[in-house]
Amino acid sequence: MTKFQVAVLISGNGSNLQALIDAAALSDYPAEIALVISNRPDAFGIERAQKAGIRTAVIDHKKYETRSEFENALQSELTKQPIDLICLAGFMRILNPEFVELWRDRMINIHPSLLPAYKGLNTFQRAIDDGVRFAGCTIHYVVPEMDAGPIIMQAVVPIGQNDTKETLAKKIQQQEHKMYPAALKKIANGSVCVRDDKVTYESVDLGDDAVISPIL
Ligand code: GAR
Repeated sequence: MTKFQVAVLISGNGSNLQALIDAAALSDYPAEIALVISNRPDAFGIERAQKAGIRTAVIDHKKYETRSEFENALQSELTKQPIDLICLAGFMRILNPEFVELWRDRMINIHPSLLPAYKGLNTFQRAIDDGVRFAGCTIHYVVPEMDAGPIIMQAVVPIGQNDTKETLAKKIQQQEHKMYPAALKKIANGSVCVRDDKVTYESVDLGDDAVISPIL
């Protein structure tokens, strides 16, 4: 049986891509990473994909005069083979609403904050500066508005008194690497439903325990 076909879009290191590649290597994982596209020729993630024998493409945004031309090139690469879902994994380009619409409910993103808080860049330092007790990461469907869209999964990480943006980033990335393969698995299995800008699950234990920081 053909597995759920996934394209991963990256701009850099690709540690989340690696987590997806590792998960997809398991025979019972329901999704296959079929294509990796980077907008930067020097992205280390491209090497990770090649090592795993995945088809790769570099579409350098600097070679296109407009965002639309860049996205046309993206789209023609994405339609060379069947793709069920796009996973943005550290893909640092804003996408036009027209492109987002083409992949409506079929494109997800991972963002290093508890959305809707801390959209955009420098999320770790901004959370530390605000003195909030929790930070985290979010996987969500992509909509035209940046870092918005129906939320699929979130992980919460307490911010320690001695945390720096580097230590916090490390803690959050550890959660990202667990969460992205788990979220993709649920989507590929068909247990995630997105309707009216909300995500629901067919069967899932959401739990009702509060997490308090500092611990009582
Ligand atoms: C990840 O932490 C991801 O959450 C973030 O970029 C990093 C990519 O790391 N994405 C964004 O900030 C998107 N707004 P990786 O290349 O090692 O996976």
